[in-house]
Amino acid sequence: MLQNIDRILEEARQFKAETWDEIEQFRIQYLGKKGILADLFRNFKELPLEHKKETGQKINDLKQFISEKIEFLLEAVKEESDDPAATDLTLPGPPVQSGARHPISIVRNEIISIFSRLGYTISEGPEIEDDWHVFSSLNFPPEHPARDMQDTFFIEKNPDILLRTHTSSVQVRVMEKEPPPIRTISPGRVFRNEAISARAHCIFHQVEGLYIDENVSFADLKQTLLFFAQEMFGNEVEIRLRPSYFPFTEPSAEMDISCQICGGKGCNVCKYTGWLEILGCGMVDPNVLEFNHIDSDKYTGFAFGMGIERVAMLKYQVKDLRLYFENDIRFLEQFSAAW
Ligand code: DAH
Repeated sequence: MLQNIDRILEEARQFKAETWDEIEQFRIQYLGKKGILADLFRNFKELPLEHKKETGQKINDLKQFISEKIEFLLEAVKEESDDPAATDLTLPGPPVQSGARHPISIVRNEIISIFSRLGYTISEGPEIEDDWHVFSSLNFPPEHPARDMQDTFFIEKNPDILLRTHTSSVQVRVMEKEPPPIRTISPGRVFRNEAISARAHCIFHQVEGLYIDENVSFADLKQTLLFFAQEMFGNEVEIRLRPSYFPFTEPSAEMDISCQICGGKGCNVCKYTGWLEILGCGMVDPNVLEFNHIDSDKYTGFAFGMGIERVAMLKYQVKDLRLYFENDIRFLEQFSAAW
């Protein structure tokens, strides 16, 4: 046994360590509950009395040596890590993951910023609406197809309550609350009962615009929309207004912008027309003003409505609508803006 102790002492003496982990392993190996020292003490108990004194002394010395060695090693490792020379301060730091805004938020904020510069306020209305605000007060005849179950999500128990299909309902909410002059835009979510595909979704975003005052003309509408298009897509962009129909405007128009991809020459994005449709607009129908207790002899106004996804598609050339809703981080990471 004495020889055994000498051998253990020699091994412990040889031991070298450079890390906390190695020292801890060493401690467990020698001083742990099932370690070498515990073994020796167990054997020690079985020894005949005459050997106990010398062997006991040696085991105690061994234990003391190991405890001191551990302390010494720990001290050495600590000094090493405290040493500024051991830390390379010129190494680059770990990369910081930064988030990016969602493209729909970027475009919405940009639209808000453009119209704020023209003095437009921002207004909001409820997403769960009633027939009056979404259809009737906007001059939709009772049999109009937009009220059809195909397009509108009705609340089953009360078909008068529905999810708004457009943000034009906020026009009505504003006219109820404020007398003219009114100059406001209303960004928000809208809902339609559509099958989800690359070109359609049951949820999307719109921005509605409304301007009511004395002597507001179609020329004001056109100039406002030209300003918007140039701010959004650049000064070279051209606009085109095509006659159209909406129940709440008369006359009504749809606005196209010159294709940003081919510069108007014709490509597969604009289907070789050189133009891309971007929004609907028109002069507020006098019926709508009267429904909302605004004197249509004194006041005129214009309104417009655009899809935020549509503007984002034209701006970023992302043609599959579903990408805007899937929140795939690889898609979202590609957009960054000061907005
Ligand atoms: N509400 C229409 C839609 O969802 C868009 C629209 C067209 C809004 C013409 C208007 C407008 O204010 O004047 O398709």
